[in-house]
Amino acid sequence: MNQSNIYRPIRAKVEKVIEENPTIRTIVLKPEEEFSFQAGQFAFVTVAGVGEAPFTPSSSPSRKERVDFTVMKTGVVTEAIHRLQEGDTVGIRGPYGRPYPLKKFEGREILLVGGGVGLAPLRSLFYALMENVSRYQRVLFCCGAKTPRDYLYKDELFGQWQSLCPTHRVDFRLTVDKKDEGWQHQEGVVTCTLTNIDFDISTSVAVVCGPPVMMKFTTLTLLEQGYREENIYLSMERKMYCGVGHCRHCLIGSRFVCKDGPVFTYSEIKNEPDAWA
Ligand SMILES: Cc1cc2nc3c(=O)[nH]c(=O)nc-3n(C[C@H](O)[C@H](O)[C@H](O)COP(=O)(O)OP(=O)(O)OC[C@H]3O[C@@H](n4cnc5c(N)ncnc54)[C@H](O)[C@@H]3O)c2cc1C
Ligand code: FES
Repeated sequence: MNQSNIYRPIRAKVEKVIEENPTIRTIVLKPEEEFSFQAGQFAFVTVAGVGEAPFTPSSSPSRKERVDFTVMKTGVVTEAIHRLQEGDTVGIRGPYGRPYPLKKFEGREILLVGGGVGLAPLRSLFYALMENVSRYQRVLFCCGAKTPRDYLYKDELFGQWQSLCPTHRVDFRLTVDKKDEGWQHQEGVVTCTLTNIDFDISTSVAVVCGPPVMMKFTTLTLLEQGYREENIYLSMERKMYCGVGHCRHCLIGSRFVCKDGPVFTYSEIKNEPDAWA
């Protein structure tokens, strides 16, 4: 935690607004105080006079002077975030929750599977992995979007990150539900990218983030392929208010998403009937 008072937001200036697609924007913030987090953790972003909502930073955790949030427009706060312009100020409080356990990923082959705005925490994780790439065996990043224009992080996914492939033992599989003429990758939902993975499945870890239905079917596919329940990491979302285990709004069964998550292994939540709600 950055602050002694966990409810006190840090002021942060909007440095840049990136329109990823018609409903998703990335805001690049410059906090007035250092804001540290680990990949997978989340923070509340406050828009004065409107309210606050939880988001996972999508930037590299090692980049201390700026933090990115990638936000899909769904309601009151996210619409206010979409109205922000360069020079505006917001508040950030956090970080909260359990991050991806990078120590446990060391020496392993890592599969990242993301869909839609679920790519946000995976982008942060991907940067963290690439910055210490010698610690990991190989990384395969499988991404899905509805159409080519819906893709987030186009400059990175189709540009900068492709050049890492030969040197960083990383590969990408990109798919869209519906392709257009220029699309040169796969067509189909993201599970279609999960065939013929030449990893040692018994030790590989898979990290999945996306809409609930995507996470459910991706998990079922991974289990069919032999992934161990304890090696499948899921980023869960629930409505949140306090972020620190007081209000009980974020419960999945007996587990608090804000405190025990948002990163859970499948083995931790598999018996909760509302896990995919
Ligand atoms: C740990 C965590 C990390 C998140 N990271 C991101 C992120 O990186 N990018 C991003 O775009 N969104 C993220 N979300 C979801 C984001 O918090 C919600 O979209 C946001 O709270 C909606 O606020 P609103 O005021 O705009 O919508 P509201 O006006 O409150 O609601 C609009 C609709 O969204 C639904 N909704 C509200 N909150 C949530 C929620 N937490 N999960 C699912 N549905 C919700 C409501 O039921 C309603 O149908 C995250 C949520 C959590 C819990
Ligand atoms: S958000 Fe209040 S208990 Fe989790």
